[in-house]
Amino acid sequence: MAGTFKLSNGIAATIRKGKRSDSDQIASLIFEWLRWKKERSPTIRDSIRAGEVVVAELKTGDKSLIGFVHGSVHNDPIHGDKRIFLTAFYVKPEYRGLGLGSALLKTLIDAAVLKHQILGVETSTMTRDAVKFYKKFGFVQDKEEIGEVFLNLKL
Ligand SMILES: CC(C)(COP(=O)(O)OP(=O)(O)OC[C@H]1O[C@@H](n2cnc3c(N)ncnc32)[C@H](O)[C@@H]1OP(=O)(O)O)[C@@H](O)C(=O)NCCC(=O)NCCS
Repeated sequence: MAGTFKLSNGIAATIRKGKRSDSDQIASLIFEWLRWKKERSPTIRDSIRAGEVVVAELKTGDKSLIGFVHGSVHNDPIHGDKRIFLTAFYVKPEYRGLGLGSALLKTLIDAAVLKHQILGVETSTMTRDAVKFYKKFGFVQDKEEIGEVFLNLKL
């Protein structure tokens, strides 16, 4: 799955499956994105172990992570197929708009198609920019008139 991706400004990144040693950096990226402090390391490690995370790492310099995407495969009785739900997706602001998000997502989808024969990808977001990204990628909003409400049940 690993490969080199050249951002449209010429910077090169390695796109690969997440590995255990990435978990602290992924936690930092999530905090940078949401500014919401929470203990996430065990879940991030489990997601990595399950092969659900794809990361982008600078090819030169400090080789730090500059983006990642997480998606889990599930049977979807509503849509009637097997699909990925995108849970977290982040590219550092200074590397956005250069094709990296699309490359990360394509890598995640291609790997899941090979491994699980998935037939769809779904996500939800509150961010207008992200909706712009997803529509450009080819996502279509279904049930547009209903809008989306997030509800959590704490057990
Ligand atoms: C969504 C996100 C991962 C896309 O990553 P990216 O590397 O910018 O994606 P690409 O370069 O492949 O695609 C760029 C497209 O995304 C959209 N976009 C969204 N935010 C953007 C930004 N800040 N800068 C540039 N393009 C942005 C535009 O439609 C753009 O297309 P255009 O250049 O033709 O206008 C990134 O914007 C991000 O991390 N956003 C904050 C977190 C988030 O909203 N995550 C998704 C919700 S779960």
